[in-house]
Amino acid sequence: MTGGGALPEGFLFGASTAAHQIEGNNTTSDWWAFETRPGSPLPEPSGDAADSFHRWPEDMDLLAGLGFNAYRFSIEWARIEPVRGRFSRAALAHYRAMVEGALARGLTPVVTLHHFTVPQWFAEAGGWLAPDAAELFARYAATAAAEVLDGVRYVATVNEPNVLARMDTVRRLFATGGPAGADLDRIDPAEDITEALVRAHRTASTALREADPRLLVGWTVAALGLHPVEPGAEAVTAAVARRREDVFVEAARGDDWIGVQAYTRTPVGVDGPVPVAEGVRTTIKGWEYYPRALGDAVRRTAALVGPDVPLLVTENGIATADDTERIAYTAEALAGLAEALRDGVDVRGYLHWSLLDNYEWGSYRPTFGLVAVDPRTFERTPKPSAHWLGALARDGRLG
Ligand code: BGC
Repeated sequence: MTGGGALPEGFLFGASTAAHQIEGNNTTSDWWAFETRPGSPLPEPSGDAADSFHRWPEDMDLLAGLGFNAYRFSIEWARIEPVRGRFSRAALAHYRAMVEGALARGLTPVVTLHHFTVPQWFAEAGGWLAPDAAELFARYAATAAAEVLDGVRYVATVNEPNVLARMDTVRRLFATGGPAGADLDRIDPAEDITEALVRAHRTASTALREADPRLLVGWTVAALGLHPVEPGAEAVTAAVARRREDVFVEAARGDDWIGVQAYTRTPVGVDGPVPVAEGVRTTIKGWEYYPRALGDAVRRTAALVGPDVPLLVTENGIATADDTERIAYTAEALAGLAEALRDGVDVRGYLHWSLLDNYEWGSYRPTFGLVAVDPRTFERTPKPSAHWLGALARDGRLG
């Protein structure tokens, strides 16, 4: 970063989304099955979401018109391979059109292959723990490389493998009779699923590079900001961080880049993670309002992954109904990012979560969007934060 605060040449400045959260009617996915099954614990199903399956050109027009130069979106395995071994030509053409649409608008696409959802057949066959899971994922990745990704550089295999691994571990505990009084906050990802996801990432990365050597392959890890809040909790904090975050970051050594996703920080006591203390300012998610999470996260990730792997901020944002709060949060987050850049941390882009208000894995209540979406008409209305952040992107500055 130069003295005047201008961003490095080619810095990606945009916003992120994920297919299941915005497309609507992702009916062949495991999440759709989970949301719609009788007695589902989720408050509401995704339904039509933001109807971005049909309205993606409008979404991209908005993003480009606001001044951004990059768009992170995911392609949906469940649509591309709705039945094992049967690839949908129409779904592949749909995502190919999205890639071409982004490029035509001057938006650098950052494409995620797997953002929490899998085809229902894959889940039924044992999910990531099935013996052939990595090969099945790699076959989908190779198909995407051949049919969808021409002209794309940044590809993420798996979104937040560390969060996915915990979700899978919790789900299995419940399926086998519940965590027996255990506190959910205390459950770490099991080793088997951690290893399975690392293997899936590596196998898919190889398949992607073989299919198209120009691709820059990485994955995106949730930065949890684990920090001790009780005397003597340092060792526990380090041990939890190792299992929940560090192994996933270290698995990215040798990758072309790593995605950093930061929202908040997580308190840890002598027995493990604890709820956010009463009186602490929180967001709609119940997370601590802590904009400095971003600066902390890029520094920590860079130190762990080593000097050869550049960083992209692939998610950062806040669930709030008050857009003024979104601007204040993001301005402080960007200030932390600017300091890290000034100190030499190699960050190549900032992608805000999220472009749109969307389906937050069970509920539409937490609104992360720069753009509001009417749930009936799907009309998009950029919030003041969208104009504010877009102006920074257009000027090539973080603040
Ligand atoms: C996920 C997104 C999610 C966001 C806010 C990340 O964990 O990648 O899908 O909506 O955080 O919770």
